[in-house]
Amino acid sequence: MVNRVLPLFAALLLGAPALSLAASGDFPLQSANNDVRNAASLQRGAKYFVNYCLGCHSAQYVRYNRVARDLGISEDLLVENLMFTTDTVHDTMTIAMPGGDAEGWFGTLPPDLSLIARSRSADYLYTFLKAFYLDEDAVLGTNNKVLSNTSMPHVLWELQGIQRPVYREERNGDEITRVFDGFETVREGALSEEEYSRMVRDIVNFLDYIGEPVQVERVAIGIRVIAFLLVFLLIAWLLKREIWKDVK
Ligand code: HEC
Repeated sequence: MVNRVLPLFAALLLGAPALSLAASGDFPLQSANNDVRNAASLQRGAKYFVNYCLGCHSAQYVRYNRVARDLGISEDLLVENLMFTTDTVHDTMTIAMPGGDAEGWFGTLPPDLSLIARSRSADYLYTFLKAFYLDEDAVLGTNNKVLSNTSMPHVLWELQGIQRPVYREERNGDEITRVFDGFETVREGALSEEEYSRMVRDIVNFLDYIGEPVQVERVAIGIRVIAFLLVFLLIAWLLKREIWKDVK
């Protein structure tokens, strides 16, 4: 029995890296470099998310008032700037689009994004949002280097502009292979490359935060606990000195 199970187990273990690679094809991921403690970035990310993503994607585990509290946004600002699809601050970030319609339009349901940063990683999301390119053969006219033949349209194209992949030919003996060599701009967008990268980083930062909202609080609590321990250490040391003064 063990003899039969062991090789199977080994094969599974060896196969695991191949499986995780398959998720992003073989396209190298860029580092998102986001920071969930950066409240300004999270606020911008929340605004972009509501304006550009919430039309199709929900974040059904996230409550508006929780976001406002964590990001330091007042309820007035929240209602004015972030809440377009619901009425009360106690609601979660759901969308009005019926699932059946979405499936009809896109062929697949836009996934809920509450936990996407945890299932895919911030680097994946960052690279994904920057990897849409012009592809005349694709139904939507665009394709994506990270998620081949994705049914998500390039919703930020007016901001990023439109890009096209460039390939170089590599000769290996008699064999010539085409190797991806970066993107070239076909049409300028409203933002520069740097501004677009910052925008994407803010969106990814927000997705990273909603994947585990308590992480922002946890860091703040950790710092306070350590500060308390340091003060306590000082008091204990002074006390010890006071008591031992007479003993010596
Ligand atoms: C017009 C509708 C639409 C909008 C707007 C939209 N998406 Fe999507 N998105 C989709 C669809 C459809 C899919 C499913 C794609 C697939 O599985 O090929 C998807 C998939 C995704 C995925 C999953 C990719 C994966 O690896 O499975 C992520 C992440 C994502 N979208 C992020 C975003 C973000 C961030 C925004 C806002 C900037 C956004 N989307 C705006 C339709 C949309």
